[in-house]
Amino acid sequence: MRISVIGAGYVGLVSAVCFADRGYEVTLSTEDPEKAKQINRAIPPFHETGLDQTLKRALDSGRMRATVGREEAVLNSDVTFIAVGTPSRTDGSIDLAFIKDSSARVGEALQRKVSYHLVAVRSTVVPGTTENIVKPMIEKHSGRAAGEDFGLVMQPEFLRQGSAIYDTINPDRIIIGEFDSRSGDSLLDLYRQFYGEKLPFALRMNLASAEMVKYASNAFLATKVSFINEVANICEKVAGVDVVKVAEGMGLDERIGKRFLHAGAGFGGSCFPKDLKAIVAFAGEHSYKPNILKSVLKVNRNQAIHVVELVRKRLGTLRGRRIALLGLSFKPGTDDLREAPSLRIIKQLLTKGARIVAYDPVGIENAKKILGKRIGYADTVESCLEGVDAAIIVTEWDEFRKLTPTDFKSWMQRPILIDARRIYDPATFRPEMTYAAVGLGL
Ligand SMILES: NC(=O)c1ccc[n+]([C@@H]2O[C@H](COP(=O)([O-])OP(=O)(O)OC[C@H]3O[C@@H](n4cnc5c(N)ncnc54)[C@H](O)[C@@H]3O)[C@@H](O)[C@H]2O)c1
Repeated sequence: MRISVIGAGYVGLVSAVCFADRGYEVTLSTEDPEKAKQINRAIPPFHETGLDQTLKRALDSGRMRATVGREEAVLNSDVTFIAVGTPSRTDGSIDLAFIKDSSARVGEALQRKVSYHLVAVRSTVVPGTTENIVKPMIEKHSGRAAGEDFGLVMQPEFLRQGSAIYDTINPDRIIIGEFDSRSGDSLLDLYRQFYGEKLPFALRMNLASAEMVKYASNAFLATKVSFINEVANICEKVAGVDVVKVAEGMGLDERIGKRFLHAGAGFGGSCFPKDLKAIVAFAGEHSYKPNILKSVLKVNRNQAIHVVELVRKRLGTLRGRRIALLGLSFKPGTDDLREAPSLRIIKQLLTKGARIVAYDPVGIENAKKILGKRIGYADTVESCLEGVDAAIIVTEWDEFRKLTPTDFKSWMQRPILIDARRIYDPATFRPEMTYAAVGLGL
């Protein structure tokens, strides 16, 4: 099968390079000519672990190229993956403009296609979108019928930024929402070939259920994060209690599981906040008030205020104080700052009159685009900590894990450290300096 992918973001580009790397002919389509050129020159448009080498290999093999021509991409392939962005509108609901545009373009191309073509929606879309928007738009613009001339599937994507390539090659499961069984069979055939003996368990269902699996999964994971953050904030009230131990104890229960039980500064990124807001808005449109999910978002927003409060308590006031932020990207392994906790923490610190200097191994350029000169930027951990009144660990980069109390004490004006990601052992840090951490009782 020849493959086309529409949308060259984390999902689109990563899928494209992985397919090409495994021997498929891939045409990647983006609406941005500069981005297409950059990709064709083997320059990844964003930082993602292993992407530079895999992209280079894919291009060197001659099997992959990026283009702005969507029609050309569809016509040169047997299956088209739609992986365009589905951003939030101001009311939190999902903006389907790129999905509609892509569906129309796919439809126009299919008008000229004689053989059966499979269309797979990979973007996260609210239940009903593939059936009620994508399908009629393709049919209208192609004059063809779903199920006869083209197949239609919705396969939610579960990759994690920072390990996107690994996750694409080693998914836990494949969810296939299918318009009809022929469509589902076609996608499964492709994955049988792609994964060979390592084919993960594939669960088949209708289109809308698959769309809901994605929202329910992200909502559940985000709930785990907000849940443990709430537990952490209670732990802090009790002398000697440590949320790290509490989470470990909980996680040993197989019904609970230990993953996503890490207390910290809250979740961010392009998915959890956006998807939660979208499903909350979607429920509202259907006259249902999702109380748990609204609280998950609220706890997450408040966690940044909580982290800043941990600093304020140690300094008395934040006005005029110089605070170092270690980490800006929403998680390690990426330079993505969309909805990052760092941005909420910075906003809160600035409101309280603090001066900020920040360091991140890869996120500085993106931070400058968002924050400009409102904060200072450092090139190294050491220069970031130089002469500051307090430091906050905001992203758990490995580089920060190696730091010792001596490093902090020798570089900072006052050795006050707020570990908002729980990367240090309190037993080592507490005796040496003022060390406070999310979920650590006094
Ligand atoms: N980033 C993730 O970790 C992740 C994980 C799972 C699912 N998703 C979902 O996958 C979708 C894509 O996410 P992403 O993070 O890759 O987004 P992104 O913002 O990184 O990229 C989206 C891409 O679509 C392109 N695009 C927009 N309109 C286009 C059009 N009409 N034609 C061609 N290209 C167009 C944009 O230029 C951009 O390159 C979203 O629905 C998202 O929720 C993302």
